[in-house]
Amino acid sequence: MRRNRDADWNAWPVADYLAENYRELHPIDIGVIRHHSAVYRSHAPGSLARTLELGAGPNLYPLMLAGAAARRIDALEPSTAGVRYLRRQLAQGPDDSWGPFYALCRSLDPALPASCAEALRPVRVVQGTADDLVPGSYDLASMHFVAESVTEDLGEFTALCETFVHAVRPGGRILAAFMERMPSYRIGAGPVWPALPVDESALRAVFAPRTTGLRIARLAKDRTLPEYGDSGILLLTAERPPTSPSPGSQESRGSQG
Ligand SMILES: C[S@@+](CC[C@H](N)C(=O)[O-])C[C@H]1O[C@@H](n2cnc3c(N)ncnc32)[C@H](O)[C@@H]1O
Repeated sequence: MRRNRDADWNAWPVADYLAENYRELHPIDIGVIRHHSAVYRSHAPGSLARTLELGAGPNLYPLMLAGAAARRIDALEPSTAGVRYLRRQLAQGPDDSWGPFYALCRSLDPALPASCAEALRPVRVVQGTADDLVPGSYDLASMHFVAESVTEDLGEFTALCETFVHAVRPGGRILAAFMERMPSYRIGAGPVWPALPVDESALRAVFAPRTTGLRIARLAKDRTLPEYGDSGILLLTAERPPTSPSPGSQESRGSQG
C-alpha cells in the first residue's frame, strides 16, 4: 500500500496535468463551477476574512471562485513544481487558457471583478502539506481531488479529511470535490500516483460524524477527459459544528477522557 510520503510530489507533472485537465473547459469543470458558484454567492463579497485551498496544485479555478467572497486565500501546496506554477500565474497573469474558466465563473457570480488577475489578488501561495494547518484558521476551506488522490491508505485519507475539516473555525464551511471510485492513476506516460477509490457512502462515513449540514452531489463521468478509471465526481459541502473543539485543545482532551 502506498502512502502519501511514498510519492514524490515535487515531481508532479504540472505541464502534463494542465494539458490533460485544464487547457480547455470540460463539462465536469462547468459542473463544479456551477455548484461552487452557488456556495460563494451565499457569502457577501469580502465577507470571508481567510479561506484555504488545500493541495491547490496548478488549478486556478477554485481560487478564482473564492475571490468573490474572500479577503485572503491561502493556496497550500507541497509540490515545488505546483508552487512555482501558481506563483508565476499570480506574478505574470494567468495563462490565456484560464480565460474561459474565468468567464464562466464571472457569469455565475457577478461579485467577481472584471479581470481574473484582480480576482486572484487575495491569493497567497504557501508551500506545505495538510500537516502544516493550524486548526480553526479559516472561515471556509476547499479542496479539489486531493484526499483521495494522494494516498491508498483509508486511515490516512480519513486523517487528511479530518485535518481539512478542523482547518476551519467552528461553524466554518467546507467545500470539496472527489474523484469517484478512482484507482491509482497515471498522468501522461508518467509514474503511477497513489489513490483511494471512494464513493458517496465512504465520504458519508468520514464526514457525517465530523460535520453538520452535509450534502453530497454527483457529476457523471466526463468522457472528454483521459481515462483515470473514475466513475464521476462527488461534490461535498458541510459545516464544522459550531461547538466542535479543535484537536489538542483543553476541551478536546477533556472530551477524549
Ligand atoms: C490530483 S492533484 C489535485 C490538484 C488540484 N487541487 C486540482 O484541483 O487539480 C493532488 C494535489 O495534492 C497535493 N498533495 C499531495 N500530498 C498532499 C498533502 N499531504 N497535503 C496537501 N496537498 C497534498 C499534490 O501536490 C497535488 O497538487
